[in-house]
Amino acid sequence: MKVVITREISSKAKELFAQNNIDVEIWPNQLPPKPSELKELCKEADGIISMLSDQINKELIDSCSNLKAISNYAVGYNNIDTEYCKEKSIRVGNTPDVLTEATAELALALTLASTRNLVNAHNDTRKGSWKTWEPMGYLGPALKGKTLGIFGMGRIGFSYARKMKLAFDMNIIYTARNKKVEYEKEINAQKVSLEELSKTSDILSIHSPLTDETRGVFNENIFNNMKTTLHLINTARGEIIDQDALVKCLTDNSISGAALDVTTPEPLPLDHPLYKCKNLTLVPHIGSATNEARNEMAELAAKNIINALIGKEMPARIC
Ligand code: DGY
Repeated sequence: MKVVITREISSKAKELFAQNNIDVEIWPNQLPPKPSELKELCKEADGIISMLSDQINKELIDSCSNLKAISNYAVGYNNIDTEYCKEKSIRVGNTPDVLTEATAELALALTLASTRNLVNAHNDTRKGSWKTWEPMGYLGPALKGKTLGIFGMGRIGFSYARKMKLAFDMNIIYTARNKKVEYEKEINAQKVSLEELSKTSDILSIHSPLTDETRGVFNENIFNNMKTTLHLINTARGEIIDQDALVKCLTDNSISGAALDVTTPEPLPLDHPLYKCKNLTLVPHIGSATNEARNEMAELAAKNIINALIGKEMPARIC
């Protein structure tokens, strides 16, 4: 049996495959395979560990005649046509839980980076353009006692909200499909409508998966409803925000700032107008980038594939 891993990941995955006598082929380059290269790489694979940057669509699936299992090396799986996988009886897994803390920690870091102007302050200091202590320079809002809005109160949203509650005693409001009774009890959170969330939040952080329902939700109408002092954080998927609308409201300061771990596309072309916004903090999709999370993601993705290939249940199965 043969498994393809579309990028180099922690060696733990290779060890697990070797213990189960499964051959592994790893895409050798730093840049992801192009669609035609991905097809060629995967054509004889029984299993694939895919990255969120790989489009696992009908065409790719149809070109893999032995394919029985896919595990995304991510919790999000909007890059995989799961409906078609179901039709073809190909099992699909992902890597939830093991990256929850890492992603929540990054959301916290981005919140402080945006509210406290960390990147501009760092760049100015390094460039020598900071000349003296400035009584009115680099000002930003305090977090203590402010309202934090969570769009998508799942595991990551809750972990981040809990940290913000403990660290800054923030008042937590959220949107989610269903009321989260346990979460509400633990951090005294309150479920609200999207309208209320956008109107009341001082910090608004996006944690929902990308679906047809969430694509482009943060559009001009929603931005117009926000406080001008709001900071927007996104560690979920770029497509949830209408980027043209975001450029407009960062440019005319109708919100104070945004910090994004994710964009559409990734990376943004260098002439993208978002780069002109001084009130934007941008990092390269590093939500799960802790040593611990990436090791555990490798292990879980490998176990998903191994179990599916030996006829057992995947530990983290989507379909
Ligand atoms: C995921 O796993 O879906 C996240 O985007 C990683 O940061």
